[in-house]
Amino acid sequence: MQFEMEKTPQRQIYNLLIGLVAPRPIAWVTSMDEEGKLNAAPFSAYNYLCTDPPIVGIGVTNRPNAKWVPKDTARNIRRTGEFVVNVVTEDLLEKMNICATDFPAGMNELEMAGLTTAPSSVVKVPRIAEVHAALECREFTTMEIGRSRIILGRVVAMYVEDRFVVPEHDGAGPYIKAEELHAVGRMNGLGNYARTRGAFVTVPRISYEEWEKGKR
Ligand SMILES: Cc1cc2nc3c(=O)[nH]c(=O)nc-3n(C[C@H](O)[C@H](O)[C@H](O)COP(=O)(O)O)c2cc1C
Repeated sequence: MQFEMEKTPQRQIYNLLIGLVAPRPIAWVTSMDEEGKLNAAPFSAYNYLCTDPPIVGIGVTNRPNAKWVPKDTARNIRRTGEFVVNVVTEDLLEKMNICATDFPAGMNELEMAGLTTAPSSVVKVPRIAEVHAALECREFTTMEIGRSRIILGRVVAMYVEDRFVVPEHDGAGPYIKAEELHAVGRMNGLGNYARTRGAFVTVPRISYEEWEKGKR
């Protein structure tokens, strides 16, 4: 089938895109408003975009029922300039899902999910205490594009539980034991996710010399 975006309704574009750009990592973002009120919500329009400098990008659509009103996460980041990306792992998937519920104002998502917070090392926004890894970020810029905002965050500090770090690997310093972290990815909506436990395949890069040898 062929789909032309100009002739495709928005809802269908969303369904097509999230089915094809998958699995996606999930940023479980904690942020605070000017009064210090904490907010937590997951976003799978997310990735790291470069490492020098270390920048992550998150796509936040405006509220579904109020076309021009930003979600709390986007509003908080614009106003206070800081956030934390908490890494979503298999053991915390159900609790993350609770944080995506549209609770009435004044209800704290983390409390509803039975989660607590721990102080960050550089930014004022805390991380979720139960997560195994988190990226502390400062807003680099927010681009307003149509009904969405693309937030670029500069990573200023990282937290990783010791047991998931190899202190030295191949002379290149610390390395993450990603096979043991069991991060989950978001698939085609409808509550679908992908596990990474036991799902790793290793395909080493081939040097030109090896390629040449292999041909003969
Ligand atoms: C796994 C998952 C991924 C999501 N990804 C996004 C996303 O990339 N962009 C977005 O705008 N909303 C996304 N949502 C919906 C938001 O999490 C939801 O609208 C949330 O209530 C926003 O909270 P806030 O208003 O406190 O920022 C996602 C929800 C789930 C469960």
